[in-house]
Amino acid sequence: MSRDSIDSFPSQAISHEECVGAMSNLLEIRDLHVNIEDREIVKGIDLVVNRGEVHAVMGPNGSGKSTLASTLMGHPFYTVTRGQVLFDGKDVADLSADERAKLGMFLAFQYPHSVPGVTVANFLRTAVNSVLGPENKMPPAQFRALLREKLALLKMDDSMAGRYINEGFSGGEKKRAEILQMAMLQPKLAVMDETDSGLDIDALRVVADGVNSLLGPDLGVLLITHYQRLLNYIKPDFVHVMVDGRIVASGGPELAQELERDGYAGFIEKALVAV
Ligand SMILES: Nc1ncnc2c1ncn2[C@@H]1O[C@H](COP(=O)(O)OP(=O)(O)OP(=O)(O)O)[C@@H](O)[C@H]1O
Ligand SMILES: [Mg+2]
Repeated sequence: MSRDSIDSFPSQAISHEECVGAMSNLLEIRDLHVNIEDREIVKGIDLVVNRGEVHAVMGPNGSGKSTLASTLMGHPFYTVTRGQVLFDGKDVADLSADERAKLGMFLAFQYPHSVPGVTVANFLRTAVNSVLGPENKMPPAQFRALLREKLALLKMDDSMAGRYINEGFSGGEKKRAEILQMAMLQPKLAVMDETDSGLDIDALRVVADGVNSLLGPDLGVLLITHYQRLLNYIKPDFVHVMVDGRIVASGGPELAQELERDGYAGFIEKALVAV
């Protein structure tokens, strides 16, 4: 190595955590088991999502997809009885949902809640500043410009920002509001739980375009859906089939087409045989 190249080497020290993070998978789920009260819902899931990858998870009603999504975000209702969730190489078991969001994890809910009395803009300002931390708060003018840009991206009317979150929102508006939140927070991992449900075909395109515009080499996506239709717009690299708390098949986009054609019956049978 020449003297010049040594001099141009970055002098900034890299912390051990940054070093581990840069080398590890974005999300690694290892043998995850999750209970709701005494009932086991997630029964041993292994899954790796790398930066820049889109993974779709499909599966029949009640197979545990939303439970998996909420568990990843640290929802206190769900108890991890075995296994680990690693984010950027770090075990997140002891972290609250808030702390996970600060690390760059994001969940778009299947059933977004309404928050009476809190406007979309206020909520987003609080969320963005909470993720950035007190030293890096976003100046109000920059926040407003970013919000306007993202509203336009999702073809949402500016007046939406002044409305109370999800109160009186149509199904499609709720889903757009979830993606707006994602666009504002710019997470490293986005878990989207049936973001397509309840969307008409035009709204589906807008939401998919919004998500596609956020994709890049640094973002990993876990997309939970029932329909191949969404996957025509957001192209997955991998498709996983979840039945009764387990991933019973993994493959490429062709797996989603097979499901659309044949349904889940074959996979449910295989899952029963495996037990
Ligand atoms: N809050 C809860 N209280 C009791 N049982 C629950 C709760 N949430 C989920 N379950 C149960 O856990 C199981 C898995 O539910 P989950 O919502 O994770 O399934 P899903 O795969 O997301 O289904 P869908 O495709 O219908 O959204 C179901 O049997 C469900 O009844
Ligand atoms: Mg669900």
